[in-house]
Formats: sequence, C-alpha cells, structure tokens
Amino acid sequence: MDAAAISNELTSVVLTEDQLQTRIREIAAEIDEDYADLDKPLLLVGVLKGAVMVMADLARAISIPVQIDFMAVSSYGSGTKSSGVVRIIKDLDIDLTGRNVLIVEDILDSGLTLSWLIKNLKSRGSSSIEVMTMMRKPDAIKVEVHARYCGFDIPNEFVVGFGLDYAEQYRNLREVAVLAPHVYGG
Ligand code: PRP
Repeated sequence: MDAAAISNELTSVVLTEDQLQTRIREIAAEIDEDYADLDKPLLLVGVLKGAVMVMADLARAISIPVQIDFMAVSSYGSGTKSSGVVRIIKDLDIDLTGRNVLIVEDILDSGLTLSWLIKNLKSRGSSSIEVMTMMRKPDAIKVEVHARYCGFDIPNEFVVGFGLDYAEQYRNLREVAVLAPHVYGG
C-alpha cells in the first residue's frame, strides 16, 4: 500500500520507502562487519507483529548467516502499558545458550517493552544481546534502552506504516506517515 493512495487518511509522510530501504542497507552492512566472525549464525529475534516488515527487509539485506525467530509479547491489562509488566504470548523456539542475539524492533517508544525483553533474554545464557530498531521516538522515552543500531529518530506523533498499525491496519503501508486525526477521532 502506498501513501499516495490513502492521502486523505494521512497528514504527512515522515519516512519514504527509499529512505527506509537505504537505511536498512546501511545498517545491514554494519551488522555484516560487526558480526563477521561468529561460530554460530547471528540470531535475529523479531517482536511481533510490528517487526515483521523490518525483519523481512533487514534479514535479506544482511550477507552473513542468520537464523530468525519471533516472540509475541503483550502488556498486562489495558491502560497499564506504563507499568512495564509484559506477558509472553509466544516464546522463542530457539535456545539462546551461547548465542549472539540481535533483537529487531520497528519502534522504540517508551522503551518499556525492550527494557523488559532485554532483561528476559539476558537471563537465558546468551553470549550477547543487542538491539536494532527501525525508529525511535526520543520525546516518548521513559526507560533508557541502548539500541546499537537505530534507523531514524522521529517526532512523537501518531505514525503508522512499515509495520506500525492503528487498529491492526496500515502495517502494509510502504512509508511511515502521520495518521490524520479524523481517522482515530482525535
Ligand atoms: C509496539 C512496538 C514495540 C512496542 C514499543 O508494539 O512494536 O514492540 O510497541 O513500545 P514501547 O517502547 O513503549 O514499549 P505493540 O505493543 O503496539 O504491538 P504490535 O507490534 O503488535 O503492533
């Protein structure tokens, strides 16, 4: 889906498809270099569902051997996201013992999800855990999370596309765009 086709539902395009894909190729080249000498393939861990698009593009842009696994997590209850208490809906299939892990995320917002996830995965005996996030909202951060690889810092606005949804829609938008307030009753 292209932003031009639904321009009445969007306020502005924040990141074009070209910007996203160029940045992914740059990050993939860094990852190739940083993890050039591993005994076992680099393990990419995606956080469903938002990370699906960046995972698909990043994994294909990387040249070194990788394995891919996914987790699904959910914040406890509604309106309690700020508590940072997270529940695992789907766990990893792959054992992390001795593995070099790169968590792949679409967005680092408050940081609560990633902060919890890093602690959880660290307790499983991995050799290293790093984070790649396609976007980061510096103005929304509540917990500092170190992302070794970050695509773009973006404004603290209601953005959709490239994995980010509103009511499960717009994840397949090729760009990242600000959703028009009339769509969500804002
Ligand atoms: C989004 C995103 C991150 C998380 C970031 O997922 O994919 O996992 O929120 O927010 P935080 O930094 O404030 O914790 P969401 O819970 O919306 O689920 P989704 O990936 O299925 O859209």
